[in-house]
Amino acid sequence: MMTRRCLSIILAAGEGTRMQSRLPKILHKIGGLSLIGHVIRAMPAAAGNDMALIIAPGAAAVQIEAQKLAPKAQFFIQQQRLGTAHAVLAAEDLLGKNYDDIVIAYGDTPLIRPQYIEKARQKLAKGADIVVSGFYTEAPQGYGRLVEKAGRPVKIVEEKEATAREKKIKLCNGGFMALKAEHILPLLRAVGNKNSKGEYYLTDVVALAAERGLEAQVLEMAAEDIVGVNTQAELAAAEALWQSRKRQEIMAGGVSLQAPETVYFAYDTAISADVFIEPHVFFGTGVIIAAGAHIRAFSYIEGATIGKNAIIGPYARLRPLSRLADNVKIGNFCEIKQANIAEGVKINHLAYMGDVEIGTDSNIGAGAISCNYNGYNKEKISIGAGAFIGSNSALVAPLSIGKGAYIASGSVITHNVDDEALAFGRARQVNKPEGGKRLKALLSLKKGQENH
Ligand code: UD1
Ligand code: MG
Repeated sequence: MMTRRCLSIILAAGEGTRMQSRLPKILHKIGGLSLIGHVIRAMPAAAGNDMALIIAPGAAAVQIEAQKLAPKAQFFIQQQRLGTAHAVLAAEDLLGKNYDDIVIAYGDTPLIRPQYIEKARQKLAKGADIVVSGFYTEAPQGYGRLVEKAGRPVKIVEEKEATAREKKIKLCNGGFMALKAEHILPLLRAVGNKNSKGEYYLTDVVALAAERGLEAQVLEMAAEDIVGVNTQAELAAAEALWQSRKRQEIMAGGVSLQAPETVYFAYDTAISADVFIEPHVFFGTGVIIAAGAHIRAFSYIEGATIGKNAIIGPYARLRPLSRLADNVKIGNFCEIKQANIAEGVKINHLAYMGDVEIGTDSNIGAGAISCNYNGYNKEKISIGAGAFIGSNSALVAPLSIGKGAYIASGSVITHNVDDEALAFGRARQVNKPEGGKRLKALLSLKKGQENH
């Protein structure tokens, strides 16, 4: 049925002044992805379906972000911010083209689900002319209210225009709308701006459709799927809703979360079944974890690929481009960045490994540090398979340490080490018989003299 051609329009030209932030509202993030990014991902993406984004003049950052997710999207600039209906008209050139369905979403409703958009389009296919999203809430303040007669929507009234009686209506406009393409231009052109804000409201098309005898329907959505983000508090509330949705999805995929409410995911976190995650773990973007891995408490993980049965944490930090093969162990207070770590490697305590390649089954001792940055450039370190890096070693890049090599504890290693070699890079130890006793006597005498 979905061979109908669809144009998705996302409105993103608002100022977002209520955020009190210099960052455009729709570039604020939920689960590591911009609000606009979430909306783009929910839109019908199948072949033949086009996308148009309405942006404000000079909104280059918005365009760049949107292009990353929708490279084929077309951008239209709304020269003046004259309301949501006016914003849609910015794409006028496209609206007259050969589409069956037009779906319009707001860039600030990031929790919208693709299933709803499908349902709205099914209603169009079955004969509806216009489908508006509605949700029930005990706190309708700020939303447009859906006025119904005989079970059909007859108008949407904005909070500012609503009478005391209309303000009591709990069925609100979620913002999402779908129309048969043939109706969009006549309806939009009929929208006026005689209201308290002097704006052209997209929501007025519902009353206009009713006047023309068009078939309008409400698609009811769960309130938590259509929340609008206008303030920082609403952003945080949307993040919380999104996180609980993602936790459910992750658990449905066979992952164990010991305390789900304490684990934070990114939009693209991909975790296989039979991974176990302890409490208080944070995932930034770009994380992939294979089956059987165990992520211990208080770990911070971003941009990392983690192999099967790896054990990470507690208190581990994995930074971008960390590639950990199967059975790797990263223990407490270790930081890993841009590292290819082969199977069976152990880095168990207090180490920093950045810009490194580490071969299979090597052991990196407590407190070992890659000195990969000289204040100007980053340099690389490679460590062969089966190497042993003693505790508290400083490995100064660029450096290559051979297979099976052994680095003595406390070494500062500045020269390459051959396969199977043993390297010391520290001052030789000197022991003086009874020297401790003599030193103590001397120090105690000195202290006695100072106190007189
Ligand atoms: C809007 C709806 C309201 C609904 C609510 C749901 C209208 C008139 N009101 O109110 O019924 O309950 O969303 O969240 O539509 N925008 C433009 N150009 C403009 C104005 C807005 O592109 O000239 C964009 C904004 O970037 C935003 C979206 O349209 O993404 C909605 O605008 P916003 O000001 O947030 O409308 P609300 O007051 O939330
Ligand atoms: Mg809004």
